[in-house]
Parts: sequence; structure tokens; C-alpha cells
Amino acid sequence: MADIKTVGVLGCGLMGSGIAQVAAQADYQTIVREVSDELNAKGKARITKSLDKAVEKGKLDQAARDATLGRLSFTTKITDLKGCDIVIEAVTEDLEVKNTLWRELDGLCGADTIFASNTSSLTIAAMAAATKRADRFVGLHFFNPVPLMKLVEVVRTVTTSAATFDRAMAFASSLGKAPIAAKDSSGFIVNLLLVPYLLDAIRALEQNVGSVPDIDKGMVLGTGYPMGPFTLLDFVGLDTTYKIAEIMFDEYREKRYAPPPLLKRMVLAGMYGKKSGKGFYDYSTTPPSVTELGL
Ligand code: CAA
Repeated sequence: MADIKTVGVLGCGLMGSGIAQVAAQADYQTIVREVSDELNAKGKARITKSLDKAVEKGKLDQAARDATLGRLSFTTKITDLKGCDIVIEAVTEDLEVKNTLWRELDGLCGADTIFASNTSSLTIAAMAAATKRADRFVGLHFFNPVPLMKLVEVVRTVTTSAATFDRAMAFASSLGKAPIAAKDSSGFIVNLLLVPYLLDAIRALEQNVGSVPDIDKGMVLGTGYPMGPFTLLDFVGLDTTYKIAEIMFDEYREKRYAPPPLLKRMVLAGMYGKKSGKGFYDYSTTPPSVTELGL
């Protein structure tokens, strides 16, 4: 894109590293900011692994892999993001943590810089209002795994200008993604439909409608989903799903968004899914086995 040359990414976890990878792959100079050198190193290793996999799968050549890594830099200093034309935030789903970063960046970045949040369920308006650039604030919601999933929800809140929204749509397209326009209501389009489906699968398990593998198999073979709901829950993270459900329940006050008791207990027990090694499946075995939940 002509007017965007440098991309800043706040956070280099699962989503931030994917976003940084696709930005650098799309020729943008990309600066990633994490809170520690350790987290930057972890994020860089994740990106390198994903690029190597793309090379191995024949999706990327070695020179493009090297050039992508060459366009990426990592920092712990937020001031290093001052020259960015767009900053995409992918830090923890905590409004105060996000707004502290936005307030600081607002005083550093140029007037044309777009601020974009990758939040799954928090209100874009609540972040835009923390800055003096509410008209240049959008949601850019990517999907996990970012390098493979084509979709980006471009979220326009009540204060977003038409020009900013158009720039954000064009930017998402320039990453090789397929953008869709969504309104700033909790869950946007995809999670509005996906989250109740995932929660319903847990409720079905609580009611002993079927076993974890059978419910998964049912949805994969019966409806063509690439992953069954429990595999997807483990993949997205039970802690993340719980947080999203709480935020959506708070917004809509509807039972369909209420986290089921089993989800809460699994999160309390540290069963976050793939990232913690155990969720509905136990990843310490190959292939993963079904976790005994005493149901
Ligand atoms: N870079 C580039 N390409 C890669 C790659 C990489 N690192 N790794 C794999 N690929 C390619 C493969 O070559 C393959 O391409 P072809 O189809 O052309 O052969 C393709 O990507 C699929 O790769 P795999 O065969 O290794 O993997 P798979 O077929 O098992 O698919 C998956 C994996 C894409 C994750 C698939 O299972 C899937 O779509 N799952 C559902 C994921 C989903 O629903 N995500 C959304 C979660 S919700 C969310 O994120 C939002 C939120 O707010 C919670």
C-alpha cells in the first residue's frame, strides 16, 4: 500500500507473531514490541518456525523466507514504534493494559498513523476514546493460525472515519487477506456465531449427549468443519474462550454467551488446551488422548 510502509505490532504471542509474519511477508518493515527480550525471542522463534514450515510445504522460497525475517525487528521500547504508519495491538484481552499502551503511543505517533486492535471481543470504541485519534481507530481481527486463515474482520466503530476504514480494508487486502466489514458489537461477526456454538458443545458434553471425540467427529464428518468443537476449543485456548464468553455475556446478557460451569472449572484447573498441554484432549501423548474429566 502506497501510504503504509512501516507496521508496528504490539505483543508477539500467538496472534501478534502471526500478524507480524504476514505483515513482513507482504513487504512491510515490521517492528514488534514485547515486554521482555525473552518474549521477543520466543515470538521470533515462532515466526521462524512457521516460515520454515511454509518453505517445507513449498509455499515460500528460501530467499523470501530470509527477506521476510530481514524486514522484522524486535524491541522492548514502545518509543521505537513512533515512526509506524499503522500499529496493530495483540496484547492480552485487558482493556486497561491495552489503553495504557494506546495512550502512550498516541503522544508518539504521527497524525496519519492508524491504530488497530486485534481484540476478539472488547469494544473498539472504549479504546478509541482513550486516544485523541478516535477517527483513526479500527479493529483488525485476525484468525488463528494467522498465516493460514484468510479472513480479517475490519471493525468500524462509531467514531471511525470513512477514510480510515477504507485504508484499513485496503491494508488487510495488501496482506493477502480477505477483509469483511463488521460493526463494533461484541464478537463482531464470526465470534457472535462461533462462541455460542463452542459453548453449546460443552453444554452437550455436560448433558452427556455424546463423548468428546464423538461430538468432534460428528461436526467434522457431518458438517465439513476442519476441526470439531473440542479440538477447536483446545486450539483457541479455553482461557481465551472463557474470557471472550464473559465479555459477550456482559454485553448481551443472553444465556447463549454464558460460559458453562465445566469450562470455568477447566480454566480454574489450568486446563487451557494445547498451549498448557491439556484441555479436552491430553497432548502429552501421541496422538493426543481424551482427558478424563470425571463426567
Ligand atoms: N505457512 C504457509 N502455509 C502453510 C503453513 C505455514 N506455516 N503450514 C501449513 N501450510 C499450508 C499447507 O501447505 C496446506 O496447504 P494446501 O491446503 O494448499 O495443501 C494448508 O496450509 C493446510 O496445512 P496442513 O495440512 O498442515 O493443516 P490442516 O489441513 O490440518 O489445516 C488448519 C490446519 C488450517 C488450522 C485447519 O485445521 C483449520 O482451518 N482449522 C480451523 C481453524 C479455525 O477455525 N480458526 C479460527 C479460530 S477462532 C479465532 O481465531 C478467532 C477468535 O477470536 C477466537
